[in-house]
Amino acid sequence: MDRFRVRGGRRLGGSVRVSGAKNAALPALAATLLTDQPVTLNNVPGVNDVRTMFRVLEHLGAEAVVENGSSCRVRVGALKELEAPYDLVRKMRASVLVLGPLVARFGRARVSLPGGCAIGERPIEMHLAALRRLGATVELAHGYVDARAGRLEGAEITFEMKTVTGTENALMAATLARGSTVLRNCAGEPEIVDLAELLRAMGARIEGAGSDVIRIEGVPSLHGAVHSIVPDRIEAATFIMAGVLAGGSVSVEACRPDHLGAPIERLREAGARIETTETSVRVSGGFPLSSRDVVTAPYPGFATDLQAQYMTAMTQASGASVITEAIFENRFMHVSELRRMGADISHDGRQAIVKGRTRLTGAQVMATDLRASACLVLAALIAEGTTDLNRVYHIDRGYERIEEKLLALGADIERMKT
Ligand code: EPU
Repeated sequence: MDRFRVRGGRRLGGSVRVSGAKNAALPALAATLLTDQPVTLNNVPGVNDVRTMFRVLEHLGAEAVVENGSSCRVRVGALKELEAPYDLVRKMRASVLVLGPLVARFGRARVSLPGGCAIGERPIEMHLAALRRLGATVELAHGYVDARAGRLEGAEITFEMKTVTGTENALMAATLARGSTVLRNCAGEPEIVDLAELLRAMGARIEGAGSDVIRIEGVPSLHGAVHSIVPDRIEAATFIMAGVLAGGSVSVEACRPDHLGAPIERLREAGARIETTETSVRVSGGFPLSSRDVVTAPYPGFATDLQAQYMTAMTQASGASVITEAIFENRFMHVSELRRMGADISHDGRQAIVKGRTRLTGAQVMATDLRASACLVLAALIAEGTTDLNRVYHIDRGYERIEEKLLALGADIERMKT
């Protein structure tokens, strides 16, 4: 269990390159199950969740070759297994993304039911309802989802509420179904658009990804493709916030500012100085911030995956800000850790009130989930003294070499092996 030791108060400057999006790489890797031909993915982030997905694919029988740091080639000929086992799914809920592709191409899938997780209950009944609508028989027994089908049949499916991986699972399954599928009330995250681009490159017929309604004309088979994963908007926004809080002048490169509308707007309203080009964001830190409320929402709203990091920013803003978590019921575990560093935050149910501006001081803190760890790293960068952040395996799930990137920007951060 590694930890980070951060000595706060260094001014950050220079440029940082954003990696490919974890949450786009995971469905893209699952999509390789849809064809027997090789799929090459570029700009794949070197994060542990991606490694777990490689393990899931290899367990199923894929040849996964990592060609260099960020490119991989996956070919799934015959399967060894039709099961994503408990040990892998419990490590990473997104393993459930293999369900749709397996049923669509092989007519059978067994996937361990993901349990609760640190940020809430997170059921998958909408994934299962969509597969049933496409003609699969889905049973739950012994902690597993067991889905069977002949060739799936196109259908009209309306999601009860927006679900990112639910939309992705249904989209992937429908590409190989007989006839037309219409998915309504779809999530519209850029990662879904990226998946649709890959699927289209593989021969799928898809229209409308990124909007509420996605139409898919099923095809009998898909083929190999080469695709580059979209930049990680959550990582980009995390570095933008680092720049706002601890810059200097920080340039966040290789990103998609058009995917960062909500966080950039909120931060600008709070007083941050942010300029964008088509592929980069320049942040000038050191300007006074004032509080701005935020309510998390599906894209293009303010991402729940940035709520914790934004909370750290609001500890440095004058006045009280109300942060409402509308997506997950239990995503405030970072509050008590931020308090240990001196933040003045109260929370009740889905609302937190952050009173700023507070002086943060280094402390021993514990990461509780991926994005919570990022908010503690941000807090540590501006705290007086030394912070030891324990359980950084959470951050390694989704941020590629974050300590090296921050070090290059001038932070005083080191990874300690324990
Ligand atoms: N939900 C249901 N039933 C379902 C599916 C979802 O009730 O069948 C609920 C969830 O409990 C939640 C809401 O719907 O309250 C939205 O969940 P969603 O299904 O959209 O989340 P997800 O697909 O499991 C993805 C990201 C998360 C991100 C959320 C929301 C991936 C692999 N994961 O999860 O990313 O927080 O969308 O944007 O894409 C992270 O990267 O740190 C992370 C948690």
